[in-house]
Amino acid sequence: MSALDRALTIDDLKQMARRRVPKQFFDYVDSGAYTEGTYKANEEDFKKITFRQRVAVNLEDRNLSSTLLGQPVAMPIAIAPVGSTGMTDADGEIKAARAAEKFGIPFTLSTMAICSIEDVAENTTKPFWFQLYVMRDRPFIERLIDRAKAAKCSALVLTMDLQILGQRHKDIRNGLTAPPRMTPRFVAEMMAKPGWAFRMLGTRRRTFRNIHGHVDSATNLSSLTEWTRTQFDLTLNWKDIAWIKQRFGGPVIVKGILDAEDARLAVENGADAIVVSNHGGRQLDGAPSSIRVLPEIVDAVGDKTEVLMDGGIRSGQDLLKALALGARGALVGRIMAFGLGAGGEAGVLRALDIVRRETDTTMALMGERDIRNIGPHNIYSNDLVKRQGY
Ligand code: GLV
Repeated sequence: MSALDRALTIDDLKQMARRRVPKQFFDYVDSGAYTEGTYKANEEDFKKITFRQRVAVNLEDRNLSSTLLGQPVAMPIAIAPVGSTGMTDADGEIKAARAAEKFGIPFTLSTMAICSIEDVAENTTKPFWFQLYVMRDRPFIERLIDRAKAAKCSALVLTMDLQILGQRHKDIRNGLTAPPRMTPRFVAEMMAKPGWAFRMLGTRRRTFRNIHGHVDSATNLSSLTEWTRTQFDLTLNWKDIAWIKQRFGGPVIVKGILDAEDARLAVENGADAIVVSNHGGRQLDGAPSSIRVLPEIVDAVGDKTEVLMDGGIRSGQDLLKALALGARGALVGRIMAFGLGAGGEAGVLRALDIVRRETDTTMALMGERDIRNIGPHNIYSNDLVKRQGY
Protein backbone atom coordinates (compact mmCIF):
# COMPACT_ATOMS: atom_id res chain seq x y z
CA MET A 1 0.00 0.00 0.00
CA SER A 2 1.47 3.36 -0.97
CA ALA A 3 1.70 6.27 1.42
CA LEU A 4 -0.99 8.04 -0.60
CA ASP A 5 -3.32 5.07 -0.24
CA ARG A 6 -2.79 5.14 3.51
CA ALA A 7 -3.96 8.75 3.68
CA LEU A 8 -7.57 8.63 4.85
CA THR A 9 -8.32 12.30 5.28
CA ILE A 10 -7.38 15.62 3.72
CA ASP A 11 -5.51 16.34 6.93
CA ASP A 12 -3.36 13.22 6.37
CA LEU A 13 -2.44 14.63 2.95
CA LYS A 14 -1.76 18.01 4.51
CA GLN A 15 0.75 16.47 6.93
CA MET A 16 2.44 14.62 4.05
CA ALA A 17 2.62 17.86 2.06
CA ARG A 18 4.17 19.62 5.05
CA ARG A 19 6.99 17.06 5.03
CA ARG A 20 7.60 17.21 1.28
CA VAL A 21 7.18 20.87 0.31
CA PRO A 22 9.64 23.64 1.29
CA LYS A 23 8.27 25.62 4.20
CA GLN A 24 7.74 28.91 2.35
CA PHE A 25 5.53 27.23 -0.26
CA PHE A 26 3.65 25.03 2.21
CA ASP A 27 3.01 28.08 4.40
CA TYR A 28 1.83 30.11 1.39
CA VAL A 29 -1.02 27.62 1.04
CA ASP A 30 -1.66 27.13 4.75
CA SER A 31 -2.13 30.75 5.71
CA GLY A 32 -4.70 33.48 6.14
CA ALA A 33 -4.38 37.22 6.53
CA TYR A 34 -3.28 38.84 9.81
CA THR A 35 -4.65 36.82 12.80
CA GLU A 36 -5.95 34.10 10.47
CA GLY A 37 -9.30 34.49 12.25
CA THR A 38 -11.36 34.27 9.07
CA TYR A 39 -9.18 31.46 7.74
CA LYS A 40 -9.97 29.44 10.88
CA ALA A 41 -13.65 30.46 10.95
CA ASN A 42 -14.09 29.06 7.43
CA GLU A 43 -13.29 25.60 8.80
CA GLU A 44 -14.79 26.00 12.28
CA ASP A 45 -18.22 27.16 11.15
CA PHE A 46 -18.82 23.96 9.19
CA LYS A 47 -18.68 22.13 12.53
CA LYS A 48 -21.70 24.09 13.77
CA ILE A 49 -23.99 22.49 11.20
CA THR A 50 -25.56 19.10 11.93
CA PHE A 51 -27.07 16.63 9.50
CA ARG A 52 -30.42 14.95 9.83
CA GLN A 53 -30.03 11.18 9.85
CA ARG A 54 -32.76 9.34 7.95
CA VAL A 55 -33.00 5.56 7.62
CA ALA A 56 -34.87 2.86 5.78
CA VAL A 57 -34.82 4.53 2.40
CA ASN A 58 -33.57 2.78 -0.71
CA LEU A 59 -29.88 3.61 -1.12
CA GLU A 60 -29.20 1.80 -4.38
CA ASP A 61 -27.85 3.56 -7.46
CA ARG A 62 -26.56 6.67 -5.78
CA ASN A 63 -25.59 9.67 -7.90
CA LEU A 64 -22.94 12.31 -7.19
CA SER A 65 -22.90 13.90 -10.62
CA SER A 66 -24.45 17.26 -11.32
CA THR A 67 -23.90 20.28 -13.57
CA LEU A 68 -22.01 23.54 -13.06
CA LEU A 69 -22.84 26.32 -15.51
CA GLY A 70 -24.66 23.79 -17.63
CA GLN A 71 -21.63 21.47 -17.92
CA PRO A 72 -21.80 17.94 -16.53
CA VAL A 73 -19.49 17.30 -13.55
CA ALA A 74 -18.72 14.05 -11.74
CA MET A 75 -19.28 15.88 -8.47
CA PRO A 76 -20.39 19.48 -7.87
CA ILE A 77 -16.90 20.78 -7.19
CA ALA A 78 -14.28 22.65 -9.19
CA ILE A 79 -10.62 23.22 -8.43
CA ALA A 80 -10.24 26.78 -7.15
CA PRO A 81 -7.59 29.10 -8.60
CA VAL A 82 -4.50 28.98 -6.39
CA GLY A 83 -1.53 31.22 -7.14
CA SER A 84 1.97 29.67 -7.37
CA THR A 85 0.64 26.09 -7.50
CA GLY A 86 3.67 25.17 -9.59
CA MET A 87 5.80 25.86 -6.53
CA THR A 88 3.93 23.33 -4.37
CA ASP A 89 5.16 20.74 -6.85
CA ALA A 90 6.92 21.12 -10.21
CA ASP A 91 4.42 21.77 -13.03
CA GLY A 92 1.74 21.73 -10.34
CA GLU A 93 -0.98 23.40 -12.39
CA ILE A 94 -0.58 20.86 -15.19
CA LYS A 95 -0.71 18.00 -12.70
CA ALA A 96 -3.79 19.38 -10.93
CA ALA A 97 -5.54 20.10 -14.25
CA ARG A 98 -4.88 16.54 -15.40
CA ALA A 99 -6.23 15.14 -12.14
CA ALA A 100 -9.35 17.30 -12.46
CA GLU A 101 -9.81 16.11 -16.02
CA LYS A 102 -9.51 12.45 -15.01
CA PHE A 103 -11.93 12.98 -12.14
CA GLY A 104 -14.42 14.88 -14.29
CA ILE A 105 -14.51 18.32 -12.69
CA PRO A 106 -13.39 21.79 -13.86
CA PHE A 107 -9.91 23.07 -13.08
CA THR A 108 -9.36 26.81 -12.63
CA LEU A 109 -5.99 28.28 -13.57
CA SER A 110 -4.94 31.39 -11.64
CA THR A 111 -3.57 34.52 -13.32
CA MET A 112 -0.75 34.16 -10.77
CA ALA A 113 -0.04 30.56 -11.76
CA ILE A 114 3.43 29.25 -12.52
CA CYS A 115 2.31 27.26 -15.59
CA SER A 116 0.73 29.44 -18.26
CA ILE A 117 -2.64 29.15 -19.97
CA GLU A 118 -0.81 27.67 -22.97
CA ASP A 119 1.15 25.19 -20.80
CA VAL A 120 -2.07 23.82 -19.31
CA ALA A 121 -3.94 23.80 -22.63
CA GLU A 122 -1.11 21.86 -24.31
CA ASN A 123 -1.10 19.25 -21.57
CA THR A 124 -4.83 18.64 -21.16
CA THR A 125 -7.68 17.76 -23.47
CA LYS A 126 -10.75 19.30 -21.81
CA PRO A 127 -11.56 23.00 -21.40
CA PHE A 128 -10.59 24.54 -18.08
CA TRP A 129 -11.61 27.77 -16.34
CA PHE A 130 -9.31 30.78 -16.20
CA GLN A 131 -9.21 33.13 -13.22
CA LEU A 132 -8.65 36.77 -14.06
CA TYR A 133 -7.14 39.51 -11.94
CA VAL A 134 -7.76 42.91 -13.45
CA MET A 135 -4.56 44.90 -13.69
CA ARG A 136 -3.91 48.46 -14.74
CA ASP A 137 -2.13 47.41 -17.91
CA ARG A 138 -5.38 47.01 -19.90
CA PRO A 139 -3.70 45.89 -23.15
CA PHE A 140 -2.10 43.06 -21.15
CA ILE A 141 -5.47 42.11 -19.63
CA GLU A 142 -7.10 42.17 -23.04
CA ARG A 143 -4.38 39.89 -24.39
CA LEU A 144 -4.78 37.62 -21.35
CA ILE A 145 -8.52 37.31 -21.98
CA ASP A 146 -7.80 36.62 -25.66
CA ARG A 147 -5.29 33.95 -24.66
CA ALA A 148 -7.89 32.28 -22.41
CA LYS A 149 -10.34 32.39 -25.29
CA ALA A 150 -7.78 30.98 -27.75
CA ALA A 151 -7.07 28.15 -25.27
CA LYS A 152 -10.82 27.42 -25.30
CA CYS A 153 -11.28 28.11 -21.59
CA SER A 154 -14.95 27.48 -20.86
CA ALA A 155 -15.41 30.16 -18.19
CA LEU A 156 -13.63 33.18 -16.80
CA VAL A 157 -13.51 33.50 -13.02
CA LEU A 158 -13.23 37.20 -12.23
CA THR A 159 -11.77 37.69 -8.74
CA MET A 160 -12.95 40.96 -7.20
CA ASP A 161 -11.57 40.77 -3.65
CA LEU A 162 -7.84 41.13 -4.19
CA GLN A 163 -7.08 44.53 -5.62
CA ILE A 164 -5.12 45.12 -2.41
CA LEU A 165 -3.31 42.25 -0.74
CA GLY A 166 -4.25 41.24 2.81
CA GLN A 167 -1.02 40.71 4.70
CA ARG A 168 0.00 37.13 5.38
CA HIS A 169 2.68 37.32 8.04
CA LYS A 170 4.16 33.92 7.20
CA ASP A 171 4.96 34.95 3.63
CA ILE A 172 6.87 38.00 4.82
CA ARG A 173 8.72 36.10 7.53
CA ASN A 174 9.62 33.35 5.07
CA GLY A 175 10.77 35.82 2.38
CA LEU A 176 8.48 34.12 -0.16
CA THR A 177 9.46 34.48 -3.84
CA ALA A 178 8.94 32.44 -7.00
CA PRO A 179 11.42 31.18 -7.97
CA PRO A 180 12.89 30.98 -4.48
CA ARG A 181 16.07 32.82 -3.59
CA MET A 182 19.02 30.51 -3.03
CA THR A 183 19.68 31.48 0.57
CA PRO A 184 21.65 29.04 2.77
CA ARG A 185 18.38 28.25 4.58
CA PHE A 186 16.65 27.37 1.32
CA VAL A 187 19.56 25.24 0.10
CA ALA A 188 19.39 23.28 3.37
CA GLU A 189 15.68 22.80 2.84
CA MET A 190 16.22 21.51 -0.69
CA MET A 191 18.59 18.91 0.71
CA ALA A 192 15.95 17.88 3.21
CA LYS A 193 13.29 17.75 0.48
CA PRO A 194 15.22 16.28 -2.44
CA GLY A 195 12.19 14.94 -4.31
CA TRP A 196 10.70 18.42 -4.59
CA ALA A 197 14.08 19.91 -5.60
CA PHE A 198 14.77 17.19 -8.16
CA ARG A 199 11.40 17.63 -9.84
CA MET A 200 11.79 21.42 -9.79
CA LEU A 201 15.19 21.17 -11.47
CA GLY A 202 13.55 19.10 -14.18
CA THR A 203 11.14 21.82 -15.31
CA ARG A 204 11.54 25.20 -16.96
CA ARG A 205 8.35 26.42 -15.32
CA ARG A 206 9.51 28.31 -12.26
CA THR A 207 8.06 31.79 -12.56
CA PHE A 208 4.68 33.42 -13.34
CA ARG A 209 4.37 32.34 -16.94
CA ASN A 210 1.03 34.03 -17.65
CA ILE A 211 2.90 37.29 -17.17
CA HIS A 212 6.58 36.64 -17.77
CA GLY A 213 7.37 37.19 -21.45
CA HIS A 214 4.03 38.91 -22.03
CA VAL A 215 4.82 42.28 -20.43
CA ASP A 216 7.73 44.33 -21.74
CA SER A 217 8.55 45.87 -18.38
CA ALA A 218 8.60 42.52 -16.51
CA THR A 219 11.54 40.67 -17.96
CA ASN A 220 13.31 39.37 -14.88
CA LEU A 221 12.29 38.40 -11.39
CA SER A 222 12.70 41.78 -9.76
CA SER A 223 10.94 43.73 -12.51
CA LEU A 224 8.17 41.11 -12.55
CA THR A 225 7.72 41.43 -8.79
CA GLU A 226 7.60 45.20 -9.05
CA TRP A 227 5.19 45.11 -11.99
CA THR A 228 2.81 42.78 -10.15
CA ARG A 229 2.98 44.79 -6.93
CA THR A 230 1.93 47.98 -8.66
CA GLN A 231 -0.51 46.51 -11.17
CA PHE A 232 -3.67 45.46 -9.34
CA ASP A 233 -6.23 48.00 -10.56
CA LEU A 234 -7.73 49.90 -7.64
CA THR A 235 -10.53 51.27 -9.82
CA LEU A 236 -12.04 47.83 -10.58
CA ASN A 237 -15.84 48.16 -10.36
CA TRP A 238 -19.08 46.43 -11.31
CA LYS A 239 -19.14 48.04 -14.77
CA ASP A 240 -15.95 46.16 -15.66
CA ILE A 241 -17.87 42.88 -15.78
CA ALA A 242 -19.55 43.93 -19.05
CA TRP A 243 -16.45 44.59 -21.17
CA ILE A 244 -14.66 41.55 -19.79
CA LYS A 245 -17.65 39.40 -20.62
CA GLN A 246 -17.96 40.87 -24.06
CA ARG A 247 -14.30 40.40 -24.85
CA PHE A 248 -14.25 36.81 -23.56
CA GLY A 249 -17.54 35.84 -25.18
CA GLY A 250 -18.31 33.15 -22.60
CA PRO A 251 -19.61 32.89 -19.05
CA VAL A 252 -18.05 35.06 -16.35
CA ILE A 253 -18.13 33.79 -12.76
CA VAL A 254 -17.67 36.60 -10.23
CA LYS A 255 -15.63 35.49 -7.22
CA GLY A 256 -15.16 37.22 -3.88
CA ILE A 257 -18.79 37.92 -2.98
CA LEU A 258 -19.47 37.90 0.75
CA ASP A 259 -22.44 40.23 1.00
CA ALA A 260 -26.01 39.89 -0.29
CA GLU A 261 -25.99 43.43 -1.69
CA ASP A 262 -22.79 42.71 -3.65
CA ALA A 263 -24.37 39.48 -4.89
CA ARG A 264 -27.29 41.47 -6.30
CA LEU A 265 -24.94 43.97 -7.91
CA ALA A 266 -22.85 41.23 -9.48
CA VAL A 267 -25.95 39.63 -11.00
CA GLU A 268 -27.36 42.98 -12.18
CA ASN A 269 -24.05 43.66 -13.90
CA GLY A 270 -24.01 40.41 -15.80
CA ALA A 271 -22.35 37.75 -13.62
CA ASP A 272 -23.27 34.32 -14.95
CA ALA A 273 -22.52 32.75 -11.56
CA ILE A 274 -20.99 33.94 -8.31
CA VAL A 275 -18.57 32.44 -5.84
CA VAL A 276 -19.29 33.26 -2.20
CA SER A 277 -15.74 33.65 -0.99
CA ASN A 278 -13.44 35.48 1.39
CA HIS A 279 -10.42 34.28 -0.60
CA GLY A 280 -9.83 31.41 1.80
CA GLY A 281 -9.46 33.85 4.70
CA ARG A 282 -6.47 35.43 2.95
CA GLN A 283 -7.86 38.93 2.52
CA LEU A 284 -10.25 40.68 4.96
CA ASP A 285 -9.37 39.19 8.32
CA GLY A 286 -12.45 39.56 10.55
CA ALA A 287 -14.88 38.89 7.71
CA PRO A 288 -17.43 36.11 8.34
CA SER A 289 -16.85 32.60 7.10
CA SER A 290 -18.20 31.85 3.64
CA ILE A 291 -20.59 29.18 4.95
CA ARG A 292 -22.11 31.65 7.42
CA VAL A 293 -23.13 34.17 4.77
CA LEU A 294 -24.02 31.61 2.10
CA PRO A 295 -27.73 31.30 3.09
CA GLU A 296 -28.46 35.03 2.92
CA ILE A 297 -26.74 35.26 -0.45
CA VAL A 298 -28.70 32.28 -1.75
CA ASP A 299 -31.87 34.01 -0.53
CA ALA A 300 -30.88 37.17 -2.41
CA VAL A 301 -29.86 35.76 -5.79
CA GLY A 302 -30.22 31.96 -5.75
CA ASP A 303 -33.19 32.06 -8.11
CA LYS A 304 -31.29 34.22 -10.63
CA THR A 305 -27.83 32.70 -10.80
CA GLU A 306 -25.72 29.74 -9.75
CA VAL A 307 -24.25 30.35 -6.32
CA LEU A 308 -20.96 28.54 -5.74
CA MET A 309 -18.88 28.88 -2.59
CA ASP A 310 -15.36 28.30 -1.35
CA GLY A 311 -13.52 28.53 1.94
CA GLY A 312 -13.00 25.89 4.60
CA ILE A 313 -14.11 22.78 2.72
CA ARG A 314 -11.91 19.89 3.86
CA SER A 315 -14.25 16.92 3.46
CA GLY A 316 -17.24 15.50 1.67
CA GLN A 317 -19.29 16.34 4.75
CA ASP A 318 -18.37 20.02 4.36
CA LEU A 319 -19.36 19.90 0.71
CA LEU A 320 -22.77 18.46 1.62
CA LYS A 321 -23.28 21.18 4.23
CA ALA A 322 -22.59 23.83 1.60
CA LEU A 323 -25.06 22.19 -0.77
CA ALA A 324 -27.63 21.90 2.03
CA LEU A 325 -27.37 25.65 2.57
CA GLY A 326 -28.08 26.31 -1.08
CA ALA A 327 -24.75 26.26 -2.93
CA ARG A 328 -24.89 24.78 -6.39
CA GLY A 329 -21.31 23.58 -5.95
CA ALA A 330 -18.02 24.40 -4.26
CA LEU A 331 -14.51 25.37 -5.27
CA VAL A 332 -11.69 23.59 -3.47
CA GLY A 333 -8.20 25.08 -3.35
CA ARG A 334 -6.39 23.72 -0.33
CA ILE A 335 -7.73 20.21 -0.89
CA MET A 336 -6.01 20.29 -4.26
CA ALA A 337 -2.82 21.91 -2.94
CA PHE A 338 -2.41 19.46 -0.05
CA GLY A 339 -2.95 16.52 -2.40
CA LEU A 340 -0.46 17.98 -4.87
CA GLY A 341 2.15 18.54 -2.19
CA ALA A 342 1.59 15.03 -0.85
CA GLY A 343 1.94 13.25 -4.17
CA GLY A 344 1.68 15.28 -7.39
CA GLU A 345 -1.09 14.34 -9.80
CA ALA A 346 -1.78 11.08 -7.95
CA GLY A 347 -2.02 13.06 -4.73
CA VAL A 348 -4.66 15.39 -6.19
CA LEU A 349 -6.59 12.37 -7.41
CA ARG A 350 -6.30 10.80 -3.97
CA ALA A 351 -7.61 14.01 -2.36
CA LEU A 352 -10.59 14.12 -4.73
CA ASP A 353 -11.24 10.44 -4.14
CA ILE A 354 -11.26 10.93 -0.37
CA VAL A 355 -13.86 13.70 -0.77
CA ARG A 356 -15.88 11.57 -3.18
CA ARG A 357 -16.05 8.63 -0.75
CA GLU A 358 -16.92 10.85 2.19
CA THR A 359 -19.65 12.52 0.18
CA ASP A 360 -21.14 9.27 -1.04
CA THR A 361 -21.24 7.56 2.35
CA THR A 362 -22.47 10.63 4.20
CA MET A 363 -25.18 11.30 1.67
CA ALA A 364 -26.38 7.71 2.03
CA LEU A 365 -26.40 7.93 5.82
CA MET A 366 -28.57 11.02 5.47
CA GLY A 367 -31.01 8.90 3.50
CA GLU A 368 -30.32 10.54 0.16
CA ARG A 369 -29.21 8.93 -3.04
CA ASP A 370 -28.91 11.88 -5.40
CA ILE A 371 -26.66 14.82 -4.60
CA ARG A 372 -28.93 17.11 -6.60
CA ASN A 373 -31.64 16.64 -3.94
CA ILE A 374 -29.52 17.89 -1.04
CA GLY A 375 -31.15 20.93 0.55
CA PRO A 376 -32.16 22.62 3.80
CA HIS A 377 -34.23 19.55 4.76
CA ASN A 378 -30.96 17.65 5.33
CA ILE A 379 -29.72 19.77 8.21
CA TYR A 380 -30.98 20.97 11.57
CA SER A 381 -31.82 24.55 12.26
CA ASN A 382 -28.96 25.66 14.42
CA ASP A 383 -27.17 28.80 15.47
CA LEU A 384 -25.60 29.25 12.10
CA VAL A 385 -28.70 28.86 9.97
CA LYS A 386 -31.53 29.92 12.32
CA ARG A 387 -30.79 33.54 11.50
CA GLN A 388 -31.62 32.76 7.93
CA GLY A 389 -34.98 31.24 8.79
CA TYR A 390 -34.27 27.65 7.84
C1 GLV B 1 -3.53 35.04 -4.38
O1 GLV B 1 -4.56 34.90 -4.94
C2 GLV B 1 -3.33 34.75 -3.00
O2 GLV B 1 -4.31 34.62 -2.27
O3 GLV B 1 -2.16 34.63 -2.61
